[in-house]
Amino acid sequence: MRNDIAAAIAATAARLEPLLIDIRRDLHAHPELAFEEHRTAARVSAELGKLGIAHQNGVGRTGVVATIPGGRPGPTIVIRGDMDALPIEERTGLPFASQAPGRMHACGHDVHTATLLGVAGVLRDLAPELRGTVRLLFQPAEEILGGAAAMIEDGALDGADLALGFHNHPDMPAGQFATVRGATYAACDRFRLGLHGVSGHAAYPHTTVDPIVAAAALISALQSVVSREVGPLDPCVVTVGAIHGGTVHNIIPDNCELLGTVRTLRPEVRARAEAALRRHVAGIASAYRVEAAFDWLPGVPPTRNDEAVRAGTMRAVGAQLGDVAGEGEPSLGAEDFALIAERVPSCVLRIGSGAPGRDDHLHNSGYQPDETCIALGAQALARAAVELLAG
Ligand code: NI
Repeated sequence: MRNDIAAAIAATAARLEPLLIDIRRDLHAHPELAFEEHRTAARVSAELGKLGIAHQNGVGRTGVVATIPGGRPGPTIVIRGDMDALPIEERTGLPFASQAPGRMHACGHDVHTATLLGVAGVLRDLAPELRGTVRLLFQPAEEILGGAAAMIEDGALDGADLALGFHNHPDMPAGQFATVRGATYAACDRFRLGLHGVSGHAAYPHTTVDPIVAAAALISALQSVVSREVGPLDPCVVTVGAIHGGTVHNIIPDNCELLGTVRTLRPEVRARAEAALRRHVAGIASAYRVEAAFDWLPGVPPTRNDEAVRAGTMRAVGAQLGDVAGEGEPSLGAEDFALIAERVPSCVLRIGSGAPGRDDHLHNSGYQPDETCIALGAQALARAAVELLAG
């Protein structure tokens, strides 16, 4: 019985593979940014239509939700794949390179969309034997961490019992898979800090209140939040990514603005970092006599894998593809799948996408994933859905 399922999934995935690669290349040539995935969603809808799978367009603005009811009653599993591209100029030189200037599928969400369509094709064929319901979320706007919230608001998680997410990982060869125990991706919060002083001539600094010197002191001091307030085994990143202040060499300006991000894996550390930032801002503003306006802009929480779902996913991937899945390290990148994992027990499957002889990185203008990861990922996710629904 088990062997039959493995063979059936492998056969359907093999039959679909040329189509999935064709879809991926079509999406790659026509990348669309967050909440602009109209052409992408239309292609997804067309392919689901060809498979005879019921689906709803316009969920979470440009998202698509497909439903595959099994032959027997049971729980509902959500599988989510994201569809949006990045504002990057492509430099791969591939024949199917981006035709949209300044836009590229550099995070492999074209691969994700094709993979999820592969899952749809495989599970449609297995539907009569399936216990429960599979719901596929083709999500927009992951790169701005906005699409998951929009889909949830439109009811895409209503009645869901568990969920699977996935991401391609070029640091692992295609054919390899990994999951992480506990937090797999980080919380991502942002901050904006306005420092307001008193402008004046650079030659008479004592007649001014200099927000640039205050900003410099603060930028250095913020690193002590990481090194002296958070445990060394607890990941935390504080990055000031932008500083805006001043116009010319001989004027001390009135204002200086800092923009930054904080990444953490645990809620306690996240709260501690925010409190420490506020304290440093208040203390340094006072010491340097500037007024400070600090905005903490909460983003997504850490993405946490449920241990039971993770273990079930690992067993299923092993049963389908053999000894190809290992344990991965947490990443301080962020994922808005976190909002799904926060609501239903979930697991993110990392799908190796590294091509032989290449050293690729996500968000790089030359990224070329190994396309064999698409059909393999579809097999792994489909089998995981079958086994997790069977319980
Ligand atoms: Ni991504």
